Amino acid sequence: MDSGKQITFPLLMSVGTAVIGSLQFGYNTGVINAPQKIIEGFINDTWYQRYEDQITKNSLTAIWSISVSIFSVGGILGSFSVGLFVNSLGRKNSMLMANILAFIAAALMGFSKMAGSWEMLIIGRFVVGLYSGLSTGFVPMYVGEVSPTSLRGALGTLHQLGIVVGILIAQVFGMEAIMGNENLWPLLLGFIFIPAVIQCVLLPLCPESPRFLLINRNEENKAKSVLKKLRGTTDVSADMQEMKEESRQMMREKKVTIKELVQSPLYRQPLIVAIILQLSQQLSGINAVFYYSTRIFEKAGVEQPVYATIGAGVVNTAFTVVSDQLKWMSYLSIVAIFAFVAFFEIGPGPIPWFIVAELFSQGPRPSAIAIAGLSNWTANFIVGMCFQYVEELCGPYVFIIFTVLLLLFFIFTYFKVPETKGRTFDEITAGFRQTAVTGGEKHSPEELNSLGADSQL
Ligand code: GLC
Repeated sequence: MDSGKQITFPLLMSVGTAVIGSLQFGYNTGVINAPQKIIEGFINDTWYQRYEDQITKNSLTAIWSISVSIFSVGGILGSFSVGLFVNSLGRKNSMLMANILAFIAAALMGFSKMAGSWEMLIIGRFVVGLYSGLSTGFVPMYVGEVSPTSLRGALGTLHQLGIVVGILIAQVFGMEAIMGNENLWPLLLGFIFIPAVIQCVLLPLCPESPRFLLINRNEENKAKSVLKKLRGTTDVSADMQEMKEESRQMMREKKVTIKELVQSPLYRQPLIVAIILQLSQQLSGINAVFYYSTRIFEKAGVEQPVYATIGAGVVNTAFTVVSDQLKWMSYLSIVAIFAFVAFFEIGPGPIPWFIVAELFSQGPRPSAIAIAGLSNWTANFIVGMCFQYVEELCGPYVFIIFTVLLLLFFIFTYFKVPETKGRTFDEITAGFRQTAVTGGEKHSPEELNSLGADSQL
């Protein structure tokens, strides 16, 4: 249907406003990279003023690693709590409400220097992690639900694009000449205030997800009028039909709790695939680059490490959009990291974010997304927290650990991850059902129904 392919202004506006959440996630991933030394200087000074003693290298590494990685602890809690909000408040109001966290975090981090408190910095990083964890659930969900089926994939990748652009903006702003200096670093961290204000102004102008209105609220007329605006047409019967089918499906399928999902052998295979894909995204070491690259480049003898860091951000963005051609660089470390980032964005970067929804039908899907989010952010935390320590132990060989892990993930993906392109959800889940059944396990008809059910998210 023609109208299904149309990119209308309300659709663009809704998606554009939502991905400000992805942008914030990316910004806070990349923002502590370039100014590491400067903020460490602040921690050092504060320590000296308090205790009249120089901070030890160990304490400084600990405080910095915690400041970096507590962001992911917030992410773990945030991503796990998505379900608490989306079904009661709605998708749009959930996104709106999350901004309270962004404002609190901006204030904590922005005033940490003035207050002479690196604790405020750490708490601020935690709070903005909560916001980011929520965003990694809210944004793909809302974008998926306002988009017409034919554009769902294309618009879905805008989440990852928002993340990488956010990282890049943070890296550029982190240059000494802009905000990555002794005076302005609090502004660099508090800057998230501005996208938060923009999102708060724009969100009320965006429609609520029609799927939420119809399926959760049973407000058929509202859902219809929202769809008309989003699609730019008065005939939205096909969309309505699809959503009603999904609604019926949901009623047929029992909601699967997290505990049931973990315990049932029926879901074991897709669950393992979902978790391993999340782990391969994070344990590839990508965030070792985005959290610590300036220091890595500096140690490798690169003279302007911040520019190399920005280079990594540019490659990251370019490869998220389209494959690119690399020019030869003078430093091997730069080439290696750029190539690594480029390949990351072709595969393990964007795919784990949307494949989980494709591997499960309606009933177990919310629980599966919660577990996937938990795995992703936990691995993110492990890398952020441990990288500097492991690097101290094994020097540049630290990346060999990631290489070995990537090799294992590659083998796993090759043999175990089904192709989802061009296949309906029914076909994908039926493939798993086949394996579970031929594996000799017995399942209730309800379980089989929910694994093999056709669903439309
Ligand atoms: C993915 C990861 C995120 C990482 C980004 C890098 O979105 O989830 O942690 O920073 O890719 O582009």
